[in-house]
Amino acid sequence: MNRTALLLFVLVGCCLQVLRAEEEEELAPATDAPADVRVVVSHLCHFKKPLQDPTDLDEDQYCDCDVHNSPTGLPEVQIDCRKHQLGDGFWQESSEQLPQGTVRLDLSRNALTVVPRLVGEQLRYLNLGHNQITTIPDKVFGNVSLLEELDLSSNRIEMLGTDALAGLPNLKLIDLSSNLIAKIEVNAFSNALHLSQLKLSNNSLGAFFNRTEADLYLRLGVTNRLAVLEMERCNLTDINLSSGVGLERALLGYNRLQQLSKLPKQLAYLDISGTPIRSLPAKFLPHLLHLESLILQDMPILYTLEEYALYGLPRLSMLNLQGSRNLSTIHPHIFGQNVIRNETDTELKRLILKGTNIRTLNSTLQFAFENLRLLDIRGAPLRCDCQLRWLRELPNLMTLGVCVKPNALRDKRFGTIDPHQFQCRAEQFWIYTVFNVLLAILLIILVSIGIFLIVRAIRPKPHVQLRTVGANSPYARVTIEPNRAEIL
Ligand SMILES: *[C@@H]1O[C@H](CO)[C@@H](O)[C@H](O)[C@H]1NC(C)=O
Ligand SMILES: *[C@@H]1O[C@H](CO)[C@@H](O)[C@H](O)[C@H]1NC(C)=O
Ligand SMILES: *[C@@H]1O[C@H](CO)[C@@H](O)[C@H](O)[C@H]1NC(C)=O
Ligand SMILES: *[C@@H]1O[C@H](CO)[C@@H](O)[C@H](O)[C@H]1NC(C)=O
Ligand SMILES: *[C@@H]1O[C@H](CO)[C@@H](O)[C@H](O)[C@H]1NC(C)=O
Ligand SMILES: *[C@@H]1O[C@H](CO)[C@@H](O)[C@H](O)[C@H]1NC(C)=O
Ligand SMILES: *[C@@H]1O[C@H](CO)[C@@H](O)[C@H](O)[C@H]1NC(C)=O
Ligand SMILES: *[C@@H]1O[C@H](CO)[C@@H](O)[C@H](O)[C@H]1NC(C)=O
Repeated sequence: MNRTALLLFVLVGCCLQVLRAEEEEELAPATDAPADVRVVVSHLCHFKKPLQDPTDLDEDQYCDCDVHNSPTGLPEVQIDCRKHQLGDGFWQESSEQLPQGTVRLDLSRNALTVVPRLVGEQLRYLNLGHNQITTIPDKVFGNVSLLEELDLSSNRIEMLGTDALAGLPNLKLIDLSSNLIAKIEVNAFSNALHLSQLKLSNNSLGAFFNRTEADLYLRLGVTNRLAVLEMERCNLTDINLSSGVGLERALLGYNRLQQLSKLPKQLAYLDISGTPIRSLPAKFLPHLLHLESLILQDMPILYTLEEYALYGLPRLSMLNLQGSRNLSTIHPHIFGQNVIRNETDTELKRLILKGTNIRTLNSTLQFAFENLRLLDIRGAPLRCDCQLRWLRELPNLMTLGVCVKPNALRDKRFGTIDPHQFQCRAEQFWIYTVFNVLLAILLIILVSIGIFLIVRAIRPKPHVQLRTVGANSPYARVTIEPNRAEIL
């Protein structure tokens, strides 16, 4: 069977399972084949070329076009044009018709500066990342209207207009990270009614979301279907997400946020790594009843987690503080006192304190650690004394870390040390202390006795008692007491 015929067969929508098996038959170089108008259906694909040719060269102007059968039996075309040095001149004047059945098109890492006008009724995934695109003209995606995922990351887009994304009602994910976006026109996302993931990380949106206009939902027109929001490294000082009733994951790290306005209740995953927060005060995250993971990595000036800081987070199962090097204190009542009275359970299963400055943990925390399975405390200056023995004795807990003090246990892995080796100096030497005290008391007694004796020795003799040797006897001894003599 001739491949030309076979391809035509594909393009009229028939199944194509045998295509790959037939590849070997095509031995003649593509250039030898006569130009066939029926075959050159696309500017992008050269279907005569062997699929996934390992010797495929990048200077080849054609992309790798792969044909699969979809679950419905219709052929689907996936086009991979990564790193093909495609420039703006590549596209046909008005718009580019994609091969029929194209569901994926990857144009990332090329040299595009404008968005190509594509026509493709079935395109669902389009990647334009890592190009040099500066603007998104209005309605430019109007003829790929079934698009579900659009990647525009790592371009040079400065502004997003109101109609830039118009005509994309099915859009579920858009990635605009690592651009130069400083301004987003009002309602830019309001046509994307199904948008559930919005990635805006690494843009300079700090001035755009300023204190007075920090409401993301109001300013962008995103609906509350939005489930995942990524806005790391945006130089934000404030963001108001309180309308986001559907928001489940929020990545807000490496911004200049110093506090958080009220966060939506459904939130299950929150990452505020690298923010300049000095301490987590009581009820820092109120009412986040569904929060499961809290990421506070590399917090530059976080010193303490205060009393009740993580109170009211009944589902919290993962807390990650890795690399927050200034963190030295975790209050024993960080989850509140109720944990101790056994009124609330904590779900905490993984606690990452790797690379923090934690030396010890108060034994009161054992109530909160009841469900803890992993404690990673590697790189922290652990003091493995009697105050940390409780941690070693907790059942079902794997603790990763190395003791730094006392010297006897230096560099020993926490989990390999016997609980009885966790000792405090005071405890170790109490007998000596008691002995010393006794010795001191004895000494004091001896000294006192000595002084008493000396005093007695140098004291003048007491006056001799008069003894009568008969009444009025002339021989009666007369004693003149020396001291009294003066008084007399
Ligand atoms: C979409 O297709 C229509 C008709 O083919 C055309 O008029 C319009 O300019 C196209 N839009 C874009 C953005 O290419
Ligand atoms: C942020 O975006 C700039 C370009 O705007 C890029 O050079 C840089 O690598 C990006 N940083 C990260 C962490 O992605
Ligand atoms: C906040 O930003 C908007 C536009 O981004 C601007 O119009 C407004 O003046 C800014 N407000 C302040 C207080 O900076
Ligand atoms: C962040 O915002 C401040 C003012 O809001 C500005 O001075 C600073 O240059 C911005 N930093 C970056 C990296 O955009
Ligand atoms: C956040 O936005 C909501 C709705 O726009 C508003 O009612 C609320 O006051 C805002 N909160 C803050 C702290 O600005
Ligand atoms: C700890 O905080 C001090 C300032 O209080 C800062 O200079 C230092 O860089 C911080 N350490 C780390 C690892 O960020
Ligand atoms: C807390 O309550 C559970 C049962 O709800 C019980 O098994 C556990 O021993 C109690 N812990 C303390 C410290 O009272
Ligand atoms: C541990 O915390 C409890 C309760 O706050 C406190 O009474 C106790 O002194 C602390 N223990 C140590 C060793 O700091």
